[in-house]
Formats: sequence, structure tokens, C-alpha cells
Amino acid sequence: MELLSCLTLVILYGYVNGQPNFVIMLMDDMGWGDLGILGEPNKETPNLDEMASQGMLLTDFYSANPLCSPSRAALLTGRLPIRNGFYTTNAHARNGYTPQIIVGGISDHEILLSELLEKKGYQSKIIGKWHLGHQEKYHPLRHGFQEWFGSPNCHFGPYDNIKTPNIPVYRDWNMTGRYYEDFKINRKTGESNLTQIYIEEAERFIETQAKKQLPFFLYWAVDATHTPVYASPQFLGTSRRGIYGDAVKELDYGVGRILKTLSKFNLAKDTFVFFSSDNGAATYAKSHGGSNGPFLCGKQTTFEGGMREPAVAWWPGKIPAGVVSHQLGSLMDLFSTVLDFANIPIPTDRIIDGISLKETLLSNHITDRPIFYYRGNQLMAVRHGDYKIHLWTWTNSLEENKKGVEFCPGQFILNVTTHKQINHSSMPLLFNIAVDPGEKYLIKHTHPTYHAVMPEFQKIVWKHLKDLVPGKPQLNWCDKAIQNWSPPGCEELQECLKGPPSKPHLCVWPH
Ligand SMILES: *[C@@H]1O[C@H](CO)[C@@H](O)[C@H](O)[C@H]1NC(C)=O
Ligand SMILES: *[C@@H]1O[C@H](CO)[C@@H](O)[C@H](O)[C@H]1NC(C)=O
Ligand SMILES: *[C@@H]1O[C@H](CO)[C@@H](O)[C@H](O)[C@H]1NC(C)=O
Ligand SMILES: *[C@@H]1O[C@H](CO)[C@@H](O)[C@H](O)[C@H]1NC(C)=O
Repeated sequence: MELLSCLTLVILYGYVNGQPNFVIMLMDDMGWGDLGILGEPNKETPNLDEMASQGMLLTDFYSANPLCSPSRAALLTGRLPIRNGFYTTNAHARNGYTPQIIVGGISDHEILLSELLEKKGYQSKIIGKWHLGHQEKYHPLRHGFQEWFGSPNCHFGPYDNIKTPNIPVYRDWNMTGRYYEDFKINRKTGESNLTQIYIEEAERFIETQAKKQLPFFLYWAVDATHTPVYASPQFLGTSRRGIYGDAVKELDYGVGRILKTLSKFNLAKDTFVFFSSDNGAATYAKSHGGSNGPFLCGKQTTFEGGMREPAVAWWPGKIPAGVVSHQLGSLMDLFSTVLDFANIPIPTDRIIDGISLKETLLSNHITDRPIFYYRGNQLMAVRHGDYKIHLWTWTNSLEENKKGVEFCPGQFILNVTTHKQINHSSMPLLFNIAVDPGEKYLIKHTHPTYHAVMPEFQKIVWKHLKDLVPGKPQLNWCDKAIQNWSPPGCEELQECLKGPPSKPHLCVWPH
């Protein structure tokens, strides 16, 4: 009896204070077209399809950037990379990220979602790829997370540990091994058990929090669909799509396992779950890249294929089942939406680009707002309503293209998929994305529609640029000495390595 009333109190307490749990499942380089429910013809994502049928499918949802690190920094800060510093000024309109030679990372001046949740008593865990800088000052446990299992960088390698160290895998503050040494990825077969580990980590965390009856934030940042793509033996060779499909199938299985775990511990009705991806599928990775469905080009570009993401929201009893929303959404909205659901005020001392999607998710309301597409320091495109303008067009340089780097394989649109950076600012290119999701049919400058919609775009762009105070660029400097030679905890593992003397130089970003 006493136990029961105590339990009731805890449940009431949680409810009255509006402290639901949060699970953000962020895929790596997974494309809009990779889900069965979005038309992937092999229909190999039964768990995601079911998740969407039990929740809301957002068809017009965007990443904050066409590349991983900036997009992830934007998710956790609610701010465009140009504001939070995840961009470069080394060259015009270049995508930068956080390889292990990068000096920069997430600034202490930024307020992260995890930091605000921490103040409200949340336990937060990141599983998988952090990508917000690997030096000690950028460690996720210094930025609001209490637990971490995963890596600061991509799982590239194997390296020789002489010129380049193998990337460490952390458990909380310290490294617990390195990729290819302690956490194997077979580059020939694509076999790795990492996704299985990431699933078990998630289940264990949810179970522990359920037993403690304390609110949690799980950031499940898995990376099997990023090259080199990998899958465990039970999934290898099972997809009709090859190894990339094997990875998708295993992640889909993981999504199912996590949702089942929430239900098993009676947390489904108290947990807001959101599934999406950090940028479009890497079309240049050929058969090791995913699908961007009907959209133009892919990762690295500001065409729809670079930033339109699969997005599913799930919260049984709260978010109505089987609803499709055409709300223009962004990964940055997860910052504001989570804070709104947790009854935490959104910071007012700075511009937050994300908006709360609470009304969209609970009552299918549509909020009018623009989407900004950046490449590095350049605003490239803007979407508002069904229309999109390109202020600049660029795929990659002809030199890169001649080396075989193809961002838009099999796709050529005159004056759109350009290999030169073309400035259209004085006369932007216009598309109707609802009619023409593939950005194939330019609306002529002489067409009445062009004159009808352009003044509103001019206002949006003018206001955006007027208010813009770019953050200090974090992706300008590189240094081989900064690599993961001796991460915290390397002594115990006897995996400390000696790096070269410091020689900072400007990073080269070819795209
Ligand atoms: C994955 O796990 C299986 C079963 O435990 C094991 O046989 C296999 O060697 C592991 N693969 C890798 C690449 O670590
Ligand atoms: C399209 O490209 C062609 C060839 O480069 C050029 O002559 C033409 O002016 C361009 N049209 C527009 C609308 O930019
Ligand atoms: C792009 O074009 C606009 C409008 O003509 C101009 O103001 C701007 O300086 C140009 N930008 C660059 C980098 O050339
Ligand atoms: C982490 O590593 C440091 C040395 O870098 C060591 O002093 C500390 O005890 C380790 N912490 C844990 C929890 O293992």
C-alpha cells in the first residue's frame, strides 16, 4: 500500500512538473528515401514504418546543414552553424566538419539542450558519434551529458598509430578502446558489432532510468550508415540493397528494440521519441550510400537531397497516430520542442533558429516559417511555403568532379547543378518544391509567379542577414598534434601514443 502510494506520487510528480523523457535517434547520412514508408521499394524498415503509423510522419523536415558536425551542433544548440561557430571562413561556401586534426569544437558560450535539461534534473546519455570536437574541453560530459558511450569522430580507419592514431571509443570520461583495435570493423566484409553494442547501451540506460524513476534524455547518434558502412553477422547479407541496406535493417531493428524497451518499462506514454538523420544520403558513396528519394543530389549540397530528412515523431497517447504533417521542420526545432515539452524556458539572450513544434505534433498545426540552407559561411538557398530560391548554386569543383567525386550522379540540371559557384543573388533561381521536389523545372524570371513570390523572399533574406552576427568560426584550424594520441584513460589501457609537435595550419576544405 505504502509502496503503491509512493509510486503514484512519483508518477503524479513527474506529470505535474511536465517532465517527460526524450529520445532523439539521429542517423548518420541516412537519406529521406531509405524508409519503406517513404517509398524505398525493398520495404526493409518494418519498425520505422510501424513507428510512423503509431506517430507522425513529417515529410518536409530538414537538417540544419548538408554535413554532419555542423548539423549536430545545430541540433544541440537550436542555432544555425553560422551562429554557433560550426563553419569555416577559409574559403567561400565550404563544408567543414570535425576530423581528428580539427582544433575547434563546441564553444562554452553556446547553451546546449543537454545543459538545460541537466539543470532540470535530467540524466542525459549520448550513445555514438559526438562530432562537436574531441579536445578535453569539448567533451560531452563537460556539456551537460552525464554518460557517453561512443566516439568523438567518424569511424574512419584503420590507421597506423604513427602518422594517425586510431579513433578512440569512450565510456563516459575516459576512452575504453579504439576502433579497429578493440572495436573491430572489418573493412573487407563490413562486419562490425557496434550497432548491437549501441542498442544494448540504450536498453540498459532506459532500464536503469526507469527503475530510478528519473527523467532522461537519450541521444542515440548511431553511425552504421556512414562510410565505412557496417553491420553485424546476423544482418550482413540480408538486405536486397547490399551492405548499406544491411546497416539500415540493423538500425531499424534497433529502433524497434528501443521502442519495445520503453513500452516494457511502461514509459511509452511519458517519452517523446524523434527519429531523423544528420544530412542527406551520401550519393557520392555509390552503392555504400543511401537514397534521397525524389530529391536532387545529396550530402554536401544545398539541393533538397542534401538536407531533406526522414522524420518520425512518436509519443503514444500524445501525438496522434498515423498523421502526416507538411510542417517545415528542422533538426534545430528539436531543441525548442524538447524544452517546451519539459517546461524549460527557451534562452532569450541569443537568437534561436529552432521553433517549438509542440502544436504541430499534438494538433497538426502549421506554423509559417522559412528554412535556410547554408554551405559554410554562405546562405545558399531559402525555402518558404512551397517555394525555394537559390541565391547560389554549386555541386563541387570540376577538378574534384574529374577525380570521381560526384554529388549528383546521373542528375544534370542546366544552371542548377553547377560546378562553379554561381551567384544568383540579384536574380535568384525559383522552384516550387511541392510541384517539383526534384528541383528540375526552373520558374522563369518572366513568369507571373516569380514576381508574385519574390518580394516575400526578399524580405525574409533581408531580415535574416540584417540580424545575423556570425559566431567565431571553429572549423578554420587544423593540427596533427591535436589528434587522439593520448585521450583521457589511455594510461590504464596502455594505449597512449606520441604525436608530432604542434604545427597549426588552416584546414583545407575542398567542398
Ligand atoms: C561480432 O560478434 C560475433 C558473435 O559474438 C563474433 O563472432 C564476431 O567475431 C564479432 N565480429 C566483430 C567484427 O567483432
Ligand atoms: C543558363 O546557362 C546558360 C549556359 O551557361 C546561359 O547562357 C544562360 O544565361 C543561363 N540561364 C540563366 C537563366 O541563368
Ligand atoms: C553576389 O551578388 C550580389 C548581388 O549582385 C552582390 O551584392 C554580392 O556582392 C555578390 N557576392 C559575391 C561574393 O560575389
Ligand atoms: C580516467 O583516466 C584518468 C587518467 O587519465 C584516471 O585518473 C581516472 O581514474 C580514470 N577514470 C575512470 C573512471 O576510470
